[in-house]
Amino acid sequence: MSTRVRIFDTTLRDGEQSPGATLTTAEKVLVADQLVRLGVDVIEAGFPAASPGDLDAVRQISRRVRGVAVAGLARATASLADVDAVWEAVQHAEQPVIHTFISTSDIQIQHQLRKSRDEVLEMAVAAVRHAKRYTSEVEFSAMDATRSDPEYLVEVFEAAIRAGATTINVPDTVGYAEPVEFAELIRTLFERVPSIHRAVVSVHCHDDLGMATANTLAAIREGAGQAEVTVNGLGERAGNTSLEEVVMALGTRPARFGHRTTGINTEEIVPTSRLVSSLTGMPVQPNKAIVGENAFAHESGIHQDGVLKNPLTYEIMTPSSVGWESTRIVLGKHSGRHGFAKRLAQLGYNLEPEVLESVYQEFITMTDERKKVGEDEVVALVQSRLVAAVS
Ligand code: KIV
Ligand code: ZN
Repeated sequence: MSTRVRIFDTTLRDGEQSPGATLTTAEKVLVADQLVRLGVDVIEAGFPAASPGDLDAVRQISRRVRGVAVAGLARATASLADVDAVWEAVQHAEQPVIHTFISTSDIQIQHQLRKSRDEVLEMAVAAVRHAKRYTSEVEFSAMDATRSDPEYLVEVFEAAIRAGATTINVPDTVGYAEPVEFAELIRTLFERVPSIHRAVVSVHCHDDLGMATANTLAAIREGAGQAEVTVNGLGERAGNTSLEEVVMALGTRPARFGHRTTGINTEEIVPTSRLVSSLTGMPVQPNKAIVGENAFAHESGIHQDGVLKNPLTYEIMTPSSVGWESTRIVLGKHSGRHGFAKRLAQLGYNLEPEVLESVYQEFITMTDERKKVGEDEVVALVQSRLVAAVS
């Protein structure tokens, strides 16, 4: 087992499926750039068959980002058209990944797909084989795996690996599993899928019962090699597993999780969270672990007393380790270029020198004209510049 857990970020695909979180292509590109800075291993950039706009966004991200794999999602349909659409979009990536999926639970096979188990297995194999003609990296997901018959799941995963899947993903699509049971499922797959050693085992959890992070960590403890996550836990319904929670749990309690590591630059967590929140318009709840405004705030006198004497009394990680600033830079008439750039970086905006200079000049003009310029106005200004630059 590799000690490294691969972080597969699906903020731009499953996260964007969060009601009201739609992003434009230019905004997706900005998030992708920040995900590279954060150090994720795979960016799932979208679902190209869903719309020409989504295909274009995945294509632009594939052309632009380097040092990271780019995946697109494809249904395993009879026509195989989704797989073709993903390839059209990801072919320019340094490491292109085609991610194909089909439901394996009887409830979804019978009532949604209206197929038999045998037909589904054949469609899964056909989609993986087709994807494999395009690229070596193919991920196969058994949608609703946690409500599927484990015997059938073993059969489908074995067939997918033999057809060429290099990653097999175990989604808890409806957020139904609990950690002990999910760990058992992963153990069963390791024991029963004969070719499992040829693929990376990945997990993808939803948070309907608030157990997505716990389930993901339970699977990692069993040897899962990839965690599918989103920034701020954004995602369909109650959301997906939070990237920041998994990464910081592994980093804070290494002995509990077999000393598994990630490649995440943890100081970029808070800037990434802010960027995703401001671009999607999805606020982060104040008490959200790691990235919530109150995550490191101490209100009770006893706690304040302890933290002032030694932060370790009530803090299990340092705020700076996840990118919270120890001194808050306030933007105003007297801000210099350096402070201005630093505050923007804290908010998730790392600007090229010429863009920075022009935004700074505009900001100074605004402060001359008016006494107070809100931080949200500066962010809006920066966003419009960046969006125009990548459009
Ligand atoms: O939740 C899910 O099952 C998915 C798959 C497409 C991986 O998002
Ligand atoms: Zn999902």
